[in-house]
Amino acid sequence: MTPQTNLPVRSAGPYIPSTVESQRGGQLFDHVCVYLSTSSRIPGRLVESGILLSEIFLLNIPEWLFGMRKEGRPPIEKRLASSIAASRMAIEQDVSAGERRKVVVQTGKSIAATEAGIRAVENIKVQSKNPNVEFIYLDLGSFQEIRKFSEEVNRRTNVVDLLVNNAGVMDVPTFKPTAEGHDSQFGINYLGHYFLTTLLLPLIKLAPKARIVMTASSAHYGTSKIGYKGITSAKAYDRINNYCGSKLATVMYTRFLAKTLRETHPNITVNCLHPGACRTNLFSSSWLLYTLTTIGFQVLLRPASRGARGLTYLCLSEEVEGISGEFWFDERIRQKNPASQDAKQQQELIDYSNKQIGF
Ligand SMILES: NC(=O)c1ccc[n+]([C@@H]2O[C@H](COP(=O)([O-])OP(=O)(O)OC[C@H]3O[C@@H](n4cnc5c(N)ncnc54)[C@H](OP(=O)(O)O)[C@@H]3O)[C@@H](O)[C@H]2O)c1
Repeated sequence: MTPQTNLPVRSAGPYIPSTVESQRGGQLFDHVCVYLSTSSRIPGRLVESGILLSEIFLLNIPEWLFGMRKEGRPPIEKRLASSIAASRMAIEQDVSAGERRKVVVQTGKSIAATEAGIRAVENIKVQSKNPNVEFIYLDLGSFQEIRKFSEEVNRRTNVVDLLVNNAGVMDVPTFKPTAEGHDSQFGINYLGHYFLTTLLLPLIKLAPKARIVMTASSAHYGTSKIGYKGITSAKAYDRINNYCGSKLATVMYTRFLAKTLRETHPNITVNCLHPGACRTNLFSSSWLLYTLTTIGFQVLLRPASRGARGLTYLCLSEEVEGISGEFWFDERIRQKNPASQDAKQQQELIDYSNKQIGF
């Protein structure tokens, strides 16, 4: 498969999202998402379930009925045992076959999460037959913890070849601040990863070839601008807008970083993706989504390993070599929300982010 990079040129005007290649309801899916998430007449909970249902019916059910698309799919899953839940973050050293390989997996903040992380590391060691896998604790909801993590990475290695910014929370019902007072959806999904990437960039720049992969979402189509007020104000907080905003910020940052590095460090590529509606713990904050995904639609959601396939594709596939700044879904480049390409909005986001992290 040759990834399509010639995105259609868009003229200024109303935002009409479309996929690069129309397939399996792609265009329709984008329209449904945007329609649902921008209509103020539809209550929030219906929006959430509407987006989930549209995704399941337009994408997962056809796949479920007609089987997986075989064409062009590299056997990456055989090379890296992974699931979205397990591949919270991987930093690899000397990825080329047979050489010493190091993978660092991070996890959340509780002791249980740490234990789960250590178990995940043991699992990866067995499945990948690679003993050089290590666990380092990271809480993306605290700048101090992110700094500690980065110092620890610096202590353990002198080069980073691959950084995966995958952790996330979704649909947190009320304003739940991070250590620095940002809404946890924006704070963890975007700002924490922004800070982490900034701190690790010096090590990434030392790699002969490096990739940065970020997990965004189709939810980034759901808003055309980032609601900065709702990031630090409980009053202005909107659970759906803030999640969509955190993912729009991720796509914007992908574009910005790719553009910046293209000039100075063409050895580094930056891409982001939507993994599809997957059966993971992501929906546990919302009772409606939790009920739908645990009782109603369990069987119709993708397994986490299916979602992780897109992630591992961007991390390892030779087909992605040299491609940077794109939004992917199911191993294909997709049309981004045009707001993510707006240079003014990108600069506003970077200025805001630098101010928050004190740079
Ligand atoms: N599932 C879907 O349908 C779907 C669709 C679109 C996009 N996504 C995106 O996919 C990514 C992975 O989500 P998932 O579906 O795999 O959900 P998940 O099962 O809930 O996994 C989320 C991961 O994020 C970690 N995390 C949460 N808060 C953290 C923090 N403060 N510091 C460090 N790590 C933290 C969690 O670690 P602990 O469990 O250890 O706390 C967990 O490993 C997210 O960015 C999500 O937005 C998922």
